[in-house]
Amino acid sequence: MSSLCHSMVDRRTLLQAGAGLAAAGMFPGAVRAQTPRAEYNLVAAIARSPILGERRPGTEVWSYNGSLPGPEIRVRQGKPVRIAVRNGLSEDTTVHWHGIRLPNNMDGVPGLTQRPIAPGETFAYEFTPPDAGTFWYHSHSNSLQQLGRGLAGPLIVEEAEPYPVDRDIIWMLADWRLTPDGQIAPGFGNAMEAAMSGRVGNTVTVNGAISNGEQVHAGERIRLRLINGALARIMALRFEGHQPVIIAVDGQPCEPHQPADGRVLLGPAMRIDIVLDLQGEPGRRYVVRDDFYEDLAYTVTHLNYNATSPTRAIRDDSFAPLPGNPLQEPDLTRAERHQINLQGGMMGGGMMSGMGGMSDMAHDASWSINGHSMTGDGHANMPPLLTLPRGSNIMLTMHNQTAWWHPMHLHGYSFKLLSRNGVSVPYNQRGDTVLLAPKDAVDVAFVADNPGEWMLHCHITDHQVSGMSSVLQVR
Ligand code: C2O
Ligand code: CU
Repeated sequence: MSSLCHSMVDRRTLLQAGAGLAAAGMFPGAVRAQTPRAEYNLVAAIARSPILGERRPGTEVWSYNGSLPGPEIRVRQGKPVRIAVRNGLSEDTTVHWHGIRLPNNMDGVPGLTQRPIAPGETFAYEFTPPDAGTFWYHSHSNSLQQLGRGLAGPLIVEEAEPYPVDRDIIWMLADWRLTPDGQIAPGFGNAMEAAMSGRVGNTVTVNGAISNGEQVHAGERIRLRLINGALARIMALRFEGHQPVIIAVDGQPCEPHQPADGRVLLGPAMRIDIVLDLQGEPGRRYVVRDDFYEDLAYTVTHLNYNATSPTRAIRDDSFAPLPGNPLQEPDLTRAERHQINLQGGMMGGGMMSGMGGMSDMAHDASWSINGHSMTGDGHANMPPLLTLPRGSNIMLTMHNQTAWWHPMHLHGYSFKLLSRNGVSVPYNQRGDTVLLAPKDAVDVAFVADNPGEWMLHCHITDHQVSGMSSVLQVR
């Protein structure tokens, strides 16, 4: 990647390099060191990928740069990045930088924030990530298929000082529905599924392939960045014999804490950073299971300890918090309050709930927000559900009036999680995606400091595209 990047250094970059320019002609190497921003190139195209392992025929996927997941983008907090995306597909695409607080025209929503990238075209995304943390990027165009076929990758924004661990590991999780011969099953957008749990697959991968396990050493302390990149699958991970400590949610630092009953719960699009002290027995293998869907628990991967004895004695078990990100603290005494009701979906008896009298419900819609069903991945002229004055303090109460779970994602912001069903959320947690169980009511707050048109939608992709989407306008 880096040689590609350097060849992409364009005239503007050289100009921005300012004083370095004089030396540039003579010492091209010197300019590299001074390149003021990170440069990446992504090409979205069809590829083959060994999802089921190297011994099985590859699966035809849509991916960035031919790899699953897409290349790891790793940048520094507060340093500009430019990512040129070329569309090698035969349909339009865009890329959304999920969780990054960036200018609206870089947010990647087709029609709403940019003209889609047509086949053969290139669009350069440029932004400066204000927050350090674990983020990800994914297609926001024909998302069911483009995300469902593999167009996603990790995006890590590094803290100024590395967090004190021995290793920093990413597990990007994804869920595929594969046919017996290992190809992606057709049938995206099935209306019945869309009104229920969405397209949950049959094969969960870690970093693009079925996992044989993570090789670890006794005595290590690792930071594990979990990213749920699934279309619809909610995950609850248990680490047999280990006690994960959560240090960040959706990229945003929180007070280090152990999750409720040891389960790390991740809705689609959510990220959780955990610290794991590896105090298992050398030579042993420990299961990492997902038991979110009770009768369907399965092994995601293993922690495979090598046989050597611990590299060091057991550490003390205190965990430093990550340094805070520069987020404005909402002032609740002055907050404007809005109610966001999530409606629709199938009930027990096969009835659609709460959708009876909805006049503006699109024909293919199964869900709605406050009585409106906005369908698709984004398009021009999406009317805002709310217009929020720039700089105002906003509190949203999201009420899940359906019988299904919904991970609700707000673009362009990280909100503070205030309370769930009247109980305040502990550990100072923030997020850009909040998972609501059936009937949950969750209060979140933020300062509307980022102007633009921002999508608020469920990240179970079938729900998003069949009505559970809206736009919040900040101006
Ligand atoms: Cu990751 Cu509009 O979403
Ligand atoms: Cu949903």
